[in-house]
Amino acid sequence: MNEAAETKNIGLRGIKVADTRISDVNGEKGILIYRGYNVVDLARSSTFEEVSFLLIHDHLPGKKELEKHRAELVAERGVPEAVFELMKKMPKLAHPMDVLQAVIPFLASFDPHLHMETREANIKKAIRLIAKVSSVVAAWDRIRNDLEPVPPNPELSHAGNFLYMLRGTPPDPETARDFDICLILHAEHSFNASTFAGREVASTHAHMYASVAAAMGALSGEIHGGANSEVMKMLLEIGEVGRVGAWISDKLGKGGKVMGMGHAVYRTEDPRATVLRGVCDRMVHRFGDRRWVDISKAIETVTKEEFKRLKGKEIYPNVDFYSASVYHMMGIPRDLFTPVFAISRMSGLTAHIIEEKFAEAQPKPELYRPDADYVGTYCGPEACEFVPLDERKP
Ligand SMILES: CC(C)(COP(=O)(O)OP(=O)(O)OC[C@H]1O[C@@H](n2cnc3c(N)ncnc32)[C@H](O)[C@@H]1OP(=O)(O)O)[C@@H](O)C(=O)NCCC(=O)NCCS
Repeated sequence: MNEAAETKNIGLRGIKVADTRISDVNGEKGILIYRGYNVVDLARSSTFEEVSFLLIHDHLPGKKELEKHRAELVAERGVPEAVFELMKKMPKLAHPMDVLQAVIPFLASFDPHLHMETREANIKKAIRLIAKVSSVVAAWDRIRNDLEPVPPNPELSHAGNFLYMLRGTPPDPETARDFDICLILHAEHSFNASTFAGREVASTHAHMYASVAAAMGALSGEIHGGANSEVMKMLLEIGEVGRVGAWISDKLGKGGKVMGMGHAVYRTEDPRATVLRGVCDRMVHRFGDRRWVDISKAIETVTKEEFKRLKGKEIYPNVDFYSASVYHMMGIPRDLFTPVFAISRMSGLTAHIIEEKFAEAQPKPELYRPDADYVGTYCGPEACEFVPLDERKP
């Protein structure tokens, strides 16, 4: 088999397309590293503000740097009124990911540094996007419910402020911290589908907002960022622990997918799922509602057993599996789960776009341009004889 044949029709699994300094996913060992730091340590001991600084600037911030970064994020939380006016004209049933994907290029037109392609200008754009996407997502939920957007609260963290802008009341500190952990865990994951889409667009010299908008399209898909919302749909459909066994057997027996289970890279438990299982348990302890966690744990057990029986392979929960119950317990609407993923991923994604634009890992040809073998037969690989419209069969 020649090299081209080996890399073809495998969905780029295991194919290295570039170097990156931003993160590393060790699928065999279940380790995720952001800029040299283990995500489990970051989730335990840092904040989303620290992690977003780390991802963009390539080192953990000192106290003064963190203060400045926080202040910049807070200062950029505001969204031009014209953006809200546009959102108010959108159909109320529009999916929040579609709204986000539409609004991001609109935000571009308000960015004073849009066409300035220096590294510093792109860092400014990254900070703006990290700050404003959170405000846009919260505002859309208000607007579609005939409520006015809640202005950001500069006293609150990025995590706490999002929940505040969504509900209009500040979250309790434990919930704000648990949400902060969710943001840390979703911040970055190497060359996943949406990040690669963003880098691919950035490689054409398109600007940051165009690259991010493309990535949002990729993130919306149900086997990528859309999976967390699909997990919740499954939990609601199953409804009680007693129905898990039959539901999963039926799903897998028919060749269907159990959302939130399996991963393209991890061959053991996704470390983010381990942390989120713990967050779930903590939230149950605080709020007393065991229902969703119990159903999730039963799904995990049954899927593992059934998968082994049917395919002779192991399967493990991924980041989306327990995040669904966590967001649901926080009162976040199901169709906002993927936009919440986007709020967090804005940090890793913009870091990747900057790395791509400035070839910060290793030089490579600027433009991504894969190839494909033409397998259409028609009149053979050479061109067909063109028949004018009037002479063709109707
Ligand atoms: C993420 C995902 C696309 C990875 O797929 P992949 O790279 O093909 O993963 P694998 O190579 O380990 O899959 C091996 C087999 O298990 C199946 N499989 C993987 N995840 C599965 C799941 N959640 N439910 C049922 N079957 C699954 C695959 O279809 C494949 O079947 P096949 O051998 O008959 O073709 C897949 O696991 C999936 O769709 N999971 C559910 C969606 C999800 O949670 N996505 C979020 C990922 S973070």
